Amino acid sequence: MYFSASLIGLFLAAVRAEPIDLTQYVLTDTGESNGGNTFAGVSLPFGMVKLGPDMFFGADAYSGDVTIGNFTGFSMMHESGTGGAPKYGVVSQMPVLGNITEPLANLNDTRVRPDITSVGYYKAALGSGITVELGATSRAGYYQYTFPTSNQSNVVVDISHVLPSYRGQGLSQRYLGGEISTSSNHYEGHADYDNGWNRAPLWTIFFCGYFDSGDTPSIVNTFVGQNDNTSQLVDYNTTSTVNSTARLGAVFNFGNATNITSRVGISFISTAQACDNVNTQIPAGTTLATLTSNAKQVWNDEVLSKVTTTESNLSNLQLLYSSMYFMHLLPSNRTGENPLWTSAEPYYDDTFTTWDLFRCTFALLQIFQPSMYEEYIRSLINIFQNEGYMPDARSSNFNGASQGGSNSDNIMADAYVKGVRGAVNWTAGYEAMQKNAEVTPLNNNDPRDLSSSTKEGRGALPDWLELGYITPKYGRAVTRAVEYSVNDFALSQVAAGLGKSADVTRYLNRSRNWRNHWNPEATSLNFSGFLVPRSIEGYIEQDPLQCGGCYWGDAYYEALPWEYSFNAQHDINTLIALSGGPETFVNRLEMMFTPNITARNAPFNSTIFNPGNEPSFNTPYLYNYVGRQDLSVKRSRFIAKSYYSPTPGGLPGNSDAGAMESWLLWNMLGLYPMVGQTTFLIGSPWFANTSISLGAGKALTMTTTGGSNDSSYYVQSLRVNGKKWTQSWVTWDDIFANGGTMNFVLGPVPANWTTGPSPPSPASEHSQYTNGSTIVQPGTVPMAPLAATLAKEAHRRKIMRDVALGVMGFVLLGLLAMVGWLWWYWTRRAKRATAEQGTDQEKGTTGAGKSPRKIEGLKALLLESRHRLMNLFKKKPCPLLPTKEERPKTADGSIGGDTFVDIEAEPPISEKKELRISVLEAFVDEPEPTEPWTPRGTNRRIHEIANERTEL
Ligand SMILES: *[C@@H]1O[C@H](CO)[C@@H](O)[C@H](O)[C@H]1NC(C)=O
Ligand SMILES: *[C@@H]1O[C@H](CO)[C@@H](O)[C@H](O)[C@H]1NC(C)=O
Ligand SMILES: *[C@@H]1O[C@H](CO)[C@@H](O)[C@H](O)[C@H]1NC(C)=O
Ligand SMILES: *[C@@H]1O[C@H](CO)[C@@H](O)[C@H](O)[C@H]1NC(C)=O
Ligand SMILES: *[C@@H]1O[C@H](CO)[C@@H](O)[C@H](O)[C@H]1NC(C)=O
Repeated sequence: MYFSASLIGLFLAAVRAEPIDLTQYVLTDTGESNGGNTFAGVSLPFGMVKLGPDMFFGADAYSGDVTIGNFTGFSMMHESGTGGAPKYGVVSQMPVLGNITEPLANLNDTRVRPDITSVGYYKAALGSGITVELGATSRAGYYQYTFPTSNQSNVVVDISHVLPSYRGQGLSQRYLGGEISTSSNHYEGHADYDNGWNRAPLWTIFFCGYFDSGDTPSIVNTFVGQNDNTSQLVDYNTTSTVNSTARLGAVFNFGNATNITSRVGISFISTAQACDNVNTQIPAGTTLATLTSNAKQVWNDEVLSKVTTTESNLSNLQLLYSSMYFMHLLPSNRTGENPLWTSAEPYYDDTFTTWDLFRCTFALLQIFQPSMYEEYIRSLINIFQNEGYMPDARSSNFNGASQGGSNSDNIMADAYVKGVRGAVNWTAGYEAMQKNAEVTPLNNNDPRDLSSSTKEGRGALPDWLELGYITPKYGRAVTRAVEYSVNDFALSQVAAGLGKSADVTRYLNRSRNWRNHWNPEATSLNFSGFLVPRSIEGYIEQDPLQCGGCYWGDAYYEALPWEYSFNAQHDINTLIALSGGPETFVNRLEMMFTPNITARNAPFNSTIFNPGNEPSFNTPYLYNYVGRQDLSVKRSRFIAKSYYSPTPGGLPGNSDAGAMESWLLWNMLGLYPMVGQTTFLIGSPWFANTSISLGAGKALTMTTTGGSNDSSYYVQSLRVNGKKWTQSWVTWDDIFANGGTMNFVLGPVPANWTTGPSPPSPASEHSQYTNGSTIVQPGTVPMAPLAATLAKEAHRRKIMRDVALGVMGFVLLGLLAMVGWLWWYWTRRAKRATAEQGTDQEKGTTGAGKSPRKIEGLKALLLESRHRLMNLFKKKPCPLLPTKEERPKTADGSIGGDTFVDIEAEPPISEKKELRISVLEAFVDEPEPTEPWTPRGTNRRIHEIANERTEL
């Protein structure tokens, strides 16, 4: 075995000696349209600089580029594949012809033909006749302009340029001010911005740019606008430095020069560092060809060559290498560029987001980029040490937003169980995880979900700790419950490694709490048992095919109850048991892939399974747990073949920083990671011969015989490291720790080769065959009254109360009339007794003294009746009536008024409980959706804008 492995190693070494340029297979516009939102400009792996175009087309351009619209600039920083709202698009240049009189007048230019883009190179042809070509290093960018002849050539540097958001959710980035200093052919300065998807506070970027225009020096004018957003110009002259919170920038005029290049560096630290970055990475005189060739070499050496194959199908090679490319754009390596604290630790930003990336991407980065991966873990810990929490998402040096659990825990555990040690301080790492698990983050009052923090950590922790489930008091309650369970499992795994046995028990127990949301009686499509919302009153009625608004304030985030009901990936055996046993589990999985079930996923045959969003990612592989590895292969192969292609529209959803591409890569390699565990589920490799380089001369080599991509992909038999293999899974140690071999025999029809043990289900104390009703007993948890029922009940109660009060009021009125009559009668008698007096007795000013005994008697009577009335309503004793003058003219006004108010505030004891429920649960605790559901994943709201389908 070792002999053959080393032979293959030799063979690969020989192959590598011939430099194959794998970048030829990378199509850098894959996923650029149809909602993929990928970045099609120029970048190195994890580059801080991502230089590319910014397009205006009337809706959000998440990565700057889309295939339609007008160019508004070419800027240095972008994300890739994200949704939500755009981030960055800053430090831009815009080439413009002619005499520029209004530099702030939303300068833009059309695109005359599709961009040309490849690894390390990008070219745009503008309607004005200008062409723009771009190159980049990790911290600097290069612009090469070709202007038409006999025109005035200008480059406008507008530092207020950002990628705006048009979604009206208050998520648009803002320019907040800055400074630019210019000299002929040079500029430097800084600019401040805030907001964007993670609602970041002010952050600053420094820049340093140089122009080379041959023999023609530039004439520079700076400009300042009226404020931070209008186009109104205030100053536009040759002043070399301007500094303001208003829009500002500079126009470089190069006369009739036609060939102009520019080198620009950026830094989060200082202009000096920005200049240093550009001068060391792109020294004066560097050509675009050199930069492109260097970039290709980096991508070849550090990324693409990690996987080699004998495959010759062009489309397959393009899918393979384009996918590898796009999963290496984010996060951004910002080591040495952290403006917030000084540390020797590595620093990564632009995790966008862990919620998207934890299932497939980080586990693949560990294999392809072990040193970067270790650095990333250290960076997570260092962020925790300096800011208090590891990020779930992070950009512009600010944590946020957390869509579900604290999923950095999963990445930490995955690294830990797979042996990542190196320079990682695991004591601190575990502290960071415990912070997530035990300390509720401060509410950042995000209008998307005011119920708890969206910034970091676990906002719904109070319920989780106190109840073991999450009530609708918190947004995304079910999503969070199942993800917190996975997170707690992650803690148990690291705790086990660190020898903290009490913590192992604590977190393993907590990791089972997802079961508290499992209503065995919830039914859908003839299956019963689903994850449902739960209040302190019991399970809440829920259609497993609906997720309401499916957004921040709702019970389920961006996916259906059906999808989330498969997400307890650490406790699959319990899930199988609760689902009705292995056979039913298979049928349930099959239902996920049955067409025409939900219109929600119309682009995907209307299956419940949604290939474009992460909560569905694991599902097609779960058949491995119940002896149907063939169905895992069948379903996952269908998804990969149907919804992915190496084309601009070739992704099923937002790339999500490479999450989609990573899912596809695992499919092509024939493995699938169960994150937080050492388990990899076995699929079916696409290629006859694939080798994954693991560094230090180690490799995993995979071969298939009898396979054909479209017709013959069922596993017939398998040898792992030369041994016959009968289980549908391998461990990290089997194939990755020291490398290994996997030799598959494939065929056109399924074969039952998985006679060995099922994959481990580490949090399960039940077998798959346990009767589910002994785990979660039907009827034990009652059903909470429906909000509608509660509202109806409250309404009925109110009517009854009103009627009762009406009757009471009527009786009181009668009483008062009698009292009034008595008064009148006594007064009349008193009047008659003192016939000579002509005083106005109604006012009782003088006449009162004439029959004091009778008046006092009446007073006492009135007072007593009032006391009685008050006692009737458990009211605090009313003050004595001091004088006749202060007595209300009509008692019913006073009594009636008080009565109504007080009954509202203090209901009779018997009613209290239910009233509180109806008010708090039905009307207050259910957070109002603060915005329309505009997902980051797929379930795309397809929008036709100028013939382009794009996600809003
Ligand atoms: C693009 O620019 C052209 C020419 O200036 C203009 O007519 C058109 O309206 C612009 N399109 C958009 C979407 O701004
Ligand atoms: C540019 O336009 C301004 C305002 O119309 C004018 O004053 C100036 O002379 C023009 N410059 C050139 C070089 O044509
Ligand atoms: C693009 O420029 C044209 C003038 O050339 C202007 O009318 C239009 O408003 C600009 N569009 C945007 C989106 O700024
Ligand atoms: C303008 O310059 C002053 C002095 O250097 C500096 O304190 C201030 O922050 C600058 N303002 C902006 C918006 O950059
Ligand atoms: C030029 O602009 C600067 C600010 O940008 C302003 O302070 C100065 O007064 C202007 N000069 C003229 C001559 O208008």
